[in-house]
Order: sequence, then C-alpha cells, then structure tokens
Amino acid sequence: MKTDILVVGGGGREHAIIKKLKMSPDAGTIYALPGNGGIAEDAICVPEIGAKEIDKIVAFAKEKAVGFAVVAPDDPLVLGCADALRAIGIPTFGPSKAAAEIEGSKVFSKRLMEKYGIPTAKCAIFSDVKEALEYVSDCPIPTVVKADGLALGKGVLIAMTRKEAEDAVRTIMEDRVFGESGSRIVIEEFLTGPEVSVLSFTDGKTVVPMVSSMDHKRIGDGDTGLNTGGMGTIAPNPYYTAEIADVCMETIFKPTIAAMQEEGRPFSGCLYFGLMLTPDGPKVIEYNCRFGDPETQVVLPLLESDLLEIMRACDSGTLTADMVKFSTGAAACIVLASKGYPEKYESGFAITKDADFAAEMYVAGAKKTDAGELVTAGGRVLGVVSTAPTLKEALALAYANTAKVHFDGAYCRSDIGQRALNAPVK
Ligand code: AMP
Ligand code: GLY
Repeated sequence: MKTDILVVGGGGREHAIIKKLKMSPDAGTIYALPGNGGIAEDAICVPEIGAKEIDKIVAFAKEKAVGFAVVAPDDPLVLGCADALRAIGIPTFGPSKAAAEIEGSKVFSKRLMEKYGIPTAKCAIFSDVKEALEYVSDCPIPTVVKADGLALGKGVLIAMTRKEAEDAVRTIMEDRVFGESGSRIVIEEFLTGPEVSVLSFTDGKTVVPMVSSMDHKRIGDGDTGLNTGGMGTIAPNPYYTAEIADVCMETIFKPTIAAMQEEGRPFSGCLYFGLMLTPDGPKVIEYNCRFGDPETQVVLPLLESDLLEIMRACDSGTLTADMVKFSTGAAACIVLASKGYPEKYESGFAITKDADFAAEMYVAGAKKTDAGELVTAGGRVLGVVSTAPTLKEALALAYANTAKVHFDGAYCRSDIGQRALNAPVK
C-alpha cells in the first residue's frame, strides 16, 4: 500500500519537495497545509490550516491517517510540530523543538559553536541595551548585529560605521522592530568571502551533505538594494571545491551533529549550513533547521535518489551516504517577484505561461480564484528552474523560460548566476 503524506508549509520550497516526493514509487496522496494555488496542481491543499496551527495539523494528520509527515518551515519546527506529530505515532521528517533551537536562537547556536570549537565569527551576547551600546562604542567596525530569535530572515543588520552599529542595537533592542526576538542580541565579527549554502540530510548520527548552492539575497542586479527572501539560486556553487567540502565535513558538519547529540538534542531532518569561505577557512554564518528557500528549488531537481526513502531514514535513524545520489549537472532558479517587493506590492494579477514553456515552475505566492485562474498573492510569486549539464546552459534555459511566464509587474534579477560563472575556481 502506498503512503499518504502530509507536508506542512506553502511556498516554493514546499512545491519543490512535493514534486520530488511525488516521484517516489511509494508516495500516495500528498496533502499540503496550507499549500498554495500552484501547489494545488500537485497536492491536495488545505488553505484553512496554517503552518503554525500545530493542533489543527495534528488533528488533520490523525483524521487522514497519513503514513508520513514533512515539516518544512522554521516556525512550526521551533514550535514543536515534529514532536507533536511523532507523539501520535506519525513518522516525521524534521527536527524536534529542542533541536530546532539551532535556528530558533542565535544565542544557542553561537554558544554551541564556541563550546565545540566549530569555526564561526567571534561574538558577544547582550540582553542589556546599555552594555551592548558600550560594547559597540569601541568594537571593530564593520560589525554585525543580530536579533536572537526568528525574524523572518530579517534580524541581521550589517553596520559599516559605528553610528550604524549603535542604531542597529537600538533598532533591535529598544524599537523591537523584530519583536521579542530582539530581547537578546548577538554582535559579531564581520567576515568576508564567498557565501555557500550546504543543505544536509541527517538522522542525528550520520550527516550526508547535498549538492552545494548559492543564493542571491538582494533585490537588485549586482547585489544591490534591499534584502529579500532570495531572488534566485544556482547549484552547484563553484566556490565550494572538493577540498573545501572535505574541510567542512571534518570541521563543521560532523562536529555539529556530534555536538547536538552530546547536548541531548539529536538533530534529524535537513540541517542547513550557511557558510562563508573566509581567508581563514570556512566558517558558519548561520544554521537553519530546515531546507532553504530558494536553495531547495535547485538542489532537489538534481537529486536522483528517492526522497521519501531518504526522509524516512532520517526519521528512523538509518541514513547512509549511499542512499543519497546527486546528478553531476547544474540547476538554476530565477525568482519572479511582484513589482515593489520587498516593500509594497500589489497582488491579484493573472499568471499565464506560453505553450512552449519547458522548465519546472515552483509556485510561492499565488492562489487560485473561484474561476480556477492562478493569480499572484505574494512578493515572491514563483521560481523558474532548469537543469542542464553545465551552469551556463542551465541559466540560459531558466532565463529563456522565465520570459515565457507573464503577470503584470513581474520582476526578476537579470544577473542570477553571473558571479558563479565568473568564479575563479573550477
Ligand atoms: P542570516 O540572516 O544569518 O542569513 O544573515 C543574512 C546575511 O547577512 C548573510 O547571508 C550574510 O550575507 C550576512 N552576514 C551574516 N553574518 C555575517 C558576518 N558575521 N559577517 C559578514 N556578513 C554576515
Ligand atoms: N535562502 C535562505 C534561507 O532559506 O534561509
């Protein structure tokens, strides 16, 4: 009998996960809570149940007697959604609440890295605004000020001057622009070097890295303008050579998994390593307790193995490296956003696609109208993804197909992957 699966979440990442799960010979009906108008092509969406409504999610899982669950976003994981599903006997992909703290609290993750000697930026931790201001009055500049808790990926302020550092402390701790997550802050050393995202599968003991990727976080070409949820990704990341991968495995990935075990918080699921390749070697910028978005949209299309089988092994503690095979090709994801994003934007524009569109489309912010029409309903609307033997070909295909998707005010960066193509290595 096939396995019915519940996926918590409703963005482009979840669409990519669901499309990959559907390829598993064992996958039955897939439910997405809440899903979105695009995901509705591939799964049964339940828009009434939000990703943070743990009690409703658990009740739904019980009612449908699903055989497996995947909790994709950070919020429900930090709230204990995976624990709640396991508690009613449903095998679940995703870390426990205790393990999700590796993303949920930057203070926790910085202390963990310090205790276990995992390379990261030097930092100081404050819960008192006066002490924090005193510290920034003579700390090295530039510096980086981070809110402790989850802040929709926005709780990081880079201060290029001392004045900006003081303003950053006040913005987070006094004005509480990121809410309660700003009651404690981390002030850390400013690092430089290429950034690499490495997602990994882990069952709490064994860690198997996926193909590396590169995000493009700024809204404008040439990495200018405001930070966004991610305007495009490529995989693999050419800066991440086999030698660097070996160093990361020994100094970062294995020690992190061992540290979480030692702390009595074994981490199972997808652990995301946000790395910076500094002149002193690779260092951890951040951990995420989940698949990255939009990294997943380029990583999973390159996965040749059965995702459901891997996810089950992560939950049951039986993961082995040979279960996870990636193609040697490349992938590119171009995000189409609403005009005005990441600030004010309008929604409700019809999304159409030319008949000769020939790429993957992962939908993030869209809904179906009563008439069955797909319309925009978010800042980042969708990602167009192509795979090919080389990055250059993947990018050309992804851009050619992006031009075949239409909605009023559609915006994309025109330079996704350029830095990777110009990378001095490989
Ligand atoms: P995060 O929300 O932790 O991913 O941080 C957002 C971005 O801020 C990262 O992708 C980096 O580009 C940058 N960043 C974070 N920490 C540092 C650091 N210590 N030095 C330099 N840049 C940083
Ligand atoms: N793309 C970064 C993230 O998912 O956090």
